[in-house]
Amino acid sequence: MDKLKITGGRPLEGEVQVSGAKNAALPIMCAALLSAKPLALTNVPRLRDVSTMARLLAQMGVAVERSEHSTVLHAKAITDPTATYELVKTMRASVLVLGPLLARCGEAKVSLPGGCAIGARPVDQHVKGLQAMGATISIEHGYMQASARRLRGARIVMDLVTVTGTENLMMAAALAEGETLLENAAREPEVLDLARCLGAMGAKIEGAGSDVIRIQGVRSLGGAEHRVMPDRIETGTYLAAAAAAGGKIRLTGAAPKTLDATLDKLREAGSKIIVTESSIEIETARRPVAVSVRTAPYPAFATDMQAQFMALACVADGTALITETIFENRFMHAIELQRLGADIRLEGNTAVVRGVERLQGAGVMATDLRASAGLVIAALVAEGDTVVDRIYHLDRGYEGLEKKLGLLGARIERIA
Ligand code: EPU
Repeated sequence: MDKLKITGGRPLEGEVQVSGAKNAALPIMCAALLSAKPLALTNVPRLRDVSTMARLLAQMGVAVERSEHSTVLHAKAITDPTATYELVKTMRASVLVLGPLLARCGEAKVSLPGGCAIGARPVDQHVKGLQAMGATISIEHGYMQASARRLRGARIVMDLVTVTGTENLMMAAALAEGETLLENAAREPEVLDLARCLGAMGAKIEGAGSDVIRIQGVRSLGGAEHRVMPDRIETGTYLAAAAAAGGKIRLTGAAPKTLDATLDKLREAGSKIIVTESSIEIETARRPVAVSVRTAPYPAFATDMQAQFMALACVADGTALITETIFENRFMHAIELQRLGADIRLEGNTAVVRGVERLQGAGVMATDLRASAGLVIAALVAEGDTVVDRIYHLDRGYEGLEKKLGLLGARIERIA
């Protein structure tokens, strides 16, 4: 069952609940490696990436107990500080175990992630930061072999803004000796959520959510309970779907404050949006107006929302420029969208999208997680049937996508 059949043309109506954030849950699960005491998490999304992370941690000796949306991780002893290529290649976020393992065990062996569909994605900033904290890291047979007696605090100026790089170094610094200053740190809300969890475990962290994070290392961390923040990209994906398909939907359990750039763009496209502390309602009465976006680190427009906005631009009134500045190869959905009748011209890192009155259903192929989400949105507005192949990409990051879209009235089913 790895295809989705979507029959387009219906506006979306109804209410669905947002899941916990994949990109917060993954680093937070790794934080469990830093303590011998249990870390109890709630609002954990049921996703393939979360299962992969649970398996990776279990291989290291972490006891993992999972129920519906809760997970308890207990790293009483770490038996094998290794992340194998078999798991790392399926999920790049596995590199997030490097900092915690090194800080807790003084050694780690983590596979190099290699490239992926959206670009080269090196980890040099993770390595450089840990080296500045006193780690010795060599590359042997495709693995990063790292060791350190005890990491020492350091002042680290990152060459570029990296989300998992910031998270890896913040976790390592939590147990280092002395103070670490991370400059040019990522300001993504997921970094802040991780810092909150680490704080609950006893870490001393100031400034998370800004571009300078100050961490005072402690000898050991304790157990904690933490609720994973809502997924802002899942939220944004349903909002973009509703803006493209029309209608009125309400998302509950959301964190509207983390979505400013997306909400601004949707308003610019002509949707009416009402937010409360934890819900967002979007109503779209007319064909959307073309809006241009340029991806950049938070709080600017997220690269993880780019494909969904390209799909929206495909049916908008006017021409939109979609510029990708984070990843060098994140336009693979453009070719597939063209199969649905979209008018897209690629010029370097900009896609020039001329909205058409209607798209036509066709067979398309998902290439990565967010590209798949863009294809689903286009399929919802296309005439007739679209079959999206290779939807295992979607299962990595969207909990119950077809169920939730079904609740909103979409005609969508999983087929073999
Ligand atoms: N980069 C380097 N060197 C490094 C690290 C990053 O050159 O050591 C470059 C990357 O190649 C990229 C840019 O820096 O061009 C930014 O990458 P970043 O490190 O911020 O990405 P990431 O941490 O690997 C996270 C999310 C991605 C999201 C990006 C950007 C997680 C688990 N993943 O990846 O999410 O696109 O930040 O916001 O947090 C997704 O959910 O579909 C997804 C890909």
